[in-house]
Amino acid sequence: MKRKEFLFKSTLAAFAISTFGKVVKQEQDVFMGDCETTNDILGPFYRSDAPVRDDLVTKGLVGTIITLKGKVFGNDCSTPLENALVEIWHCNTEGDYDNDSSKFHQRAKWYTNELGEYQFRTILPGKYLNGSRYRPAHIHFRVTANGSKELISQIYFQGDPHIEKDHWASQKKAEKRILPIVLEDTKGNLVVNFDISLAQKEN
Ligand SMILES: [Fe+2]
Repeated sequence: MKRKEFLFKSTLAAFAISTFGKVVKQEQDVFMGDCETTNDILGPFYRSDAPVRDDLVTKGLVGTIITLKGKVFGNDCSTPLENALVEIWHCNTEGDYDNDSSKFHQRAKWYTNELGEYQFRTILPGKYLNGSRYRPAHIHFRVTANGSKELISQIYFQGDPHIEKDHWASQKKAEKRILPIVLEDTKGNLVVNFDISLAQKEN
Protein backbone atom coordinates (compact mmCIF):
# COMPACT_ATOMS: atom_id res chain seq x y z
CA MET A 1 0.00 0.00 0.00
CA LYS A 2 1.31 3.42 -0.90
CA ARG A 3 2.04 5.73 2.00
CA LYS A 4 -0.55 8.28 0.88
CA GLU A 5 -3.27 5.65 0.58
CA PHE A 6 -2.34 4.18 3.92
CA LEU A 7 -2.62 7.56 5.63
CA PHE A 8 -6.03 8.15 4.06
CA LYS A 9 -7.38 4.77 5.14
CA SER A 10 -5.92 5.17 8.63
CA THR A 11 -7.66 8.50 8.97
CA LEU A 12 -10.98 6.96 7.95
CA ALA A 13 -10.53 4.21 10.49
CA ALA A 14 -9.80 6.63 13.30
CA PHE A 15 -12.55 9.14 12.67
CA ALA A 16 -16.09 9.19 11.45
CA ILE A 17 -18.55 11.95 10.76
CA SER A 18 -21.55 11.87 13.05
CA THR A 19 -25.07 12.58 11.83
CA PHE A 20 -24.64 16.12 13.10
CA GLY A 21 -21.56 16.70 11.01
CA LYS A 22 -19.25 16.59 14.00
CA VAL A 23 -16.06 14.59 13.74
CA VAL A 24 -15.89 12.08 16.52
CA LYS A 25 -13.19 9.66 17.51
CA GLN A 26 -13.85 6.02 16.85
CA GLU A 27 -12.35 3.40 19.10
CA GLN A 28 -13.02 -0.25 18.34
CA ASP A 29 -16.11 0.61 16.31
CA VAL A 30 -17.57 2.59 19.18
CA PHE A 31 -18.56 6.17 18.52
CA MET A 32 -17.82 8.58 21.31
CA GLY A 33 -19.13 11.98 22.13
CA ASP A 34 -21.89 12.63 19.61
CA CYS A 35 -24.86 11.33 21.53
CA GLU A 36 -24.32 12.35 25.13
CA THR A 37 -27.33 13.91 26.80
CA THR A 38 -27.01 17.67 26.99
CA ASN A 39 -27.09 19.59 30.21
CA ASP A 40 -29.39 22.31 31.50
CA ILE A 41 -29.43 24.58 34.53
CA LEU A 42 -29.72 23.16 38.03
CA GLY A 43 -32.15 25.88 39.09
CA PRO A 44 -32.59 27.05 42.68
CA PHE A 45 -34.80 24.23 44.00
CA TYR A 46 -32.57 21.14 44.17
CA ARG A 47 -32.56 19.23 47.47
CA SER A 48 -29.94 16.52 47.83
CA ASP A 49 -31.68 14.46 50.49
CA ALA A 50 -34.80 13.33 48.64
CA PRO A 51 -35.96 9.79 49.44
CA VAL A 52 -35.19 6.70 47.37
CA ARG A 53 -38.56 5.81 45.82
CA ASP A 54 -40.05 5.22 42.40
CA ASP A 55 -43.59 6.34 43.19
CA LEU A 56 -44.14 10.05 43.81
CA VAL A 57 -47.93 9.90 43.65
CA THR A 58 -49.21 10.43 47.16
CA LYS A 59 -52.79 10.29 48.39
CA GLY A 60 -54.78 13.34 47.35
CA LEU A 61 -52.19 14.60 44.89
CA VAL A 62 -53.79 16.56 42.06
CA GLY A 63 -52.49 16.05 38.54
CA THR A 64 -52.20 13.85 35.48
CA ILE A 65 -50.27 10.71 36.35
CA ILE A 66 -47.41 9.70 34.07
CA THR A 67 -44.79 7.00 34.01
CA LEU A 68 -41.38 8.52 33.42
CA LYS A 69 -38.85 5.93 32.36
CA GLY A 70 -35.73 5.28 30.38
CA LYS A 71 -32.25 3.81 30.34
CA VAL A 72 -28.94 5.26 31.40
CA PHE A 73 -25.99 4.55 29.08
CA GLY A 74 -22.30 5.25 29.13
CA ASN A 75 -20.60 7.56 26.66
CA ASP A 76 -20.79 5.04 23.80
CA CYS A 77 -24.57 5.56 24.12
CA SER A 78 -25.24 1.83 24.08
CA THR A 79 -23.70 0.24 27.17
CA PRO A 80 -26.28 0.28 30.00
CA LEU A 81 -25.05 1.60 33.34
CA GLU A 82 -26.20 -0.37 36.35
CA ASN A 83 -26.59 1.40 39.68
CA ALA A 84 -26.59 4.89 38.20
CA LEU A 85 -28.32 7.33 40.54
CA VAL A 86 -31.21 9.19 38.89
CA GLU A 87 -32.65 12.10 40.86
CA ILE A 88 -35.71 14.01 39.73
CA TRP A 89 -37.58 17.01 41.08
CA HIS A 90 -40.41 19.13 39.73
CA CYS A 91 -43.20 21.44 40.79
CA ASN A 92 -46.81 20.47 41.43
CA THR A 93 -49.72 21.50 39.21
CA GLU A 94 -49.82 24.89 40.96
CA GLY A 95 -46.20 25.55 39.98
CA ASP A 96 -44.89 25.13 43.54
CA TYR A 97 -41.84 23.15 44.64
CA ASP A 98 -41.67 21.46 48.02
CA ASN A 99 -38.63 23.30 49.34
CA ASP A 100 -38.88 22.56 53.03
CA SER A 101 -41.23 19.74 54.01
CA SER A 102 -40.05 16.34 55.19
CA LYS A 103 -42.39 14.74 52.65
CA PHE A 104 -40.21 15.83 49.70
CA HIS A 105 -43.22 16.04 47.41
CA GLN A 106 -42.35 15.49 43.73
CA ARG A 107 -38.77 14.66 44.61
CA ALA A 108 -37.13 11.25 44.44
CA LYS A 109 -34.01 9.29 43.63
CA TRP A 110 -33.74 5.82 42.17
CA TYR A 111 -30.97 3.49 41.02
CA THR A 112 -30.86 1.85 37.61
CA ASN A 113 -31.12 -1.93 37.38
CA GLU A 114 -28.73 -4.26 35.53
CA LEU A 115 -30.23 -3.15 32.20
CA GLY A 116 -29.65 0.50 33.03
CA GLU A 117 -33.39 1.07 33.47
CA TYR A 118 -35.09 3.53 35.78
CA GLN A 119 -38.75 4.34 36.24
CA PHE A 120 -40.83 6.82 38.24
CA ARG A 121 -44.56 7.25 38.67
CA THR A 122 -45.38 10.92 39.09
CA ILE A 123 -47.57 13.71 37.66
CA LEU A 124 -47.12 16.19 34.86
CA PRO A 125 -45.71 19.37 36.40
CA GLY A 126 -47.45 22.71 36.24
CA LYS A 127 -45.69 25.97 35.40
CA TYR A 128 -44.23 28.87 37.31
CA LEU A 129 -43.24 32.39 36.43
CA ASN A 130 -39.65 33.29 35.66
CA GLY A 131 -39.88 37.09 35.67
CA SER A 132 -42.85 37.92 33.51
CA ARG A 133 -42.83 34.66 31.55
CA TYR A 134 -43.90 31.17 32.45
CA ARG A 135 -41.23 28.53 32.17
CA PRO A 136 -42.52 25.55 30.19
CA ALA A 137 -43.46 22.48 32.20
CA HIS A 138 -40.27 20.60 33.02
CA ILE A 139 -38.73 17.94 35.20
CA HIS A 140 -35.23 18.37 36.58
CA PHE A 141 -32.70 15.55 36.49
CA ARG A 142 -29.39 14.91 38.18
CA VAL A 143 -27.71 11.67 37.11
CA THR A 144 -24.49 10.28 38.53
CA ALA A 145 -22.61 7.01 38.00
CA ASN A 146 -19.15 5.66 38.67
CA GLY A 147 -16.70 6.73 35.99
CA SER A 148 -19.18 9.13 34.37
CA LYS A 149 -19.49 12.87 34.44
CA GLU A 150 -22.39 14.18 36.51
CA LEU A 151 -25.32 15.26 34.37
CA ILE A 152 -27.64 18.09 35.42
CA SER A 153 -30.48 18.46 32.96
CA GLN A 154 -34.19 19.03 32.36
CA ILE A 155 -36.86 17.55 30.14
CA TYR A 156 -39.72 19.41 28.49
CA PHE A 157 -42.88 18.27 26.71
CA GLN A 158 -43.79 18.50 23.04
CA GLY A 159 -46.50 21.00 22.20
CA ASP A 160 -45.80 23.23 25.18
CA PRO A 161 -46.36 26.81 23.93
CA HIS A 162 -43.98 28.25 26.53
CA ILE A 163 -40.92 26.47 25.10
CA GLU A 164 -40.36 28.90 22.26
CA LYS A 165 -39.60 31.92 24.44
CA ASP A 166 -37.93 30.11 27.30
CA HIS A 167 -34.22 30.92 27.44
CA TRP A 168 -33.19 27.30 28.18
CA ALA A 169 -35.83 25.12 26.50
CA SER A 170 -35.51 27.01 23.23
CA GLN A 171 -31.79 26.31 22.89
CA LYS A 172 -30.66 23.96 20.13
CA LYS A 173 -29.12 21.59 22.63
CA ALA A 174 -32.49 21.09 24.33
CA GLU A 175 -34.15 19.70 21.18
CA LYS A 176 -33.70 16.05 22.11
CA ARG A 177 -35.06 16.73 25.58
CA ILE A 178 -38.45 17.99 24.38
CA LEU A 179 -40.34 14.74 24.68
CA PRO A 180 -43.69 13.33 23.57
CA ILE A 181 -46.21 12.03 26.08
CA VAL A 182 -47.19 8.68 24.60
CA LEU A 183 -49.88 6.05 24.96
CA GLU A 184 -47.67 3.00 25.07
CA ASP A 185 -50.19 0.45 26.26
CA THR A 186 -53.87 -0.30 25.73
CA LYS A 187 -55.02 1.13 29.06
CA GLY A 188 -54.62 4.82 28.35
CA ASN A 189 -51.60 5.20 30.63
CA LEU A 190 -49.35 8.13 29.76
CA VAL A 191 -45.64 7.46 29.39
CA VAL A 192 -42.64 9.72 28.91
CA ASN A 193 -39.43 8.04 27.75
CA PHE A 194 -36.11 9.67 28.44
CA ASP A 195 -32.91 7.74 27.69
CA ILE A 196 -29.74 9.31 29.06
CA SER A 197 -26.14 8.95 27.93
CA LEU A 198 -23.47 10.15 30.32
CA ALA A 199 -20.15 11.61 29.28
CA GLN A 200 -16.97 10.05 30.57
CA LYS A 201 -15.54 11.55 33.73
CA GLU A 202 -12.65 13.89 33.06
CA ASN A 203 -9.43 13.03 34.81
FE1 LIG B 1 -37.70 24.15 37.73
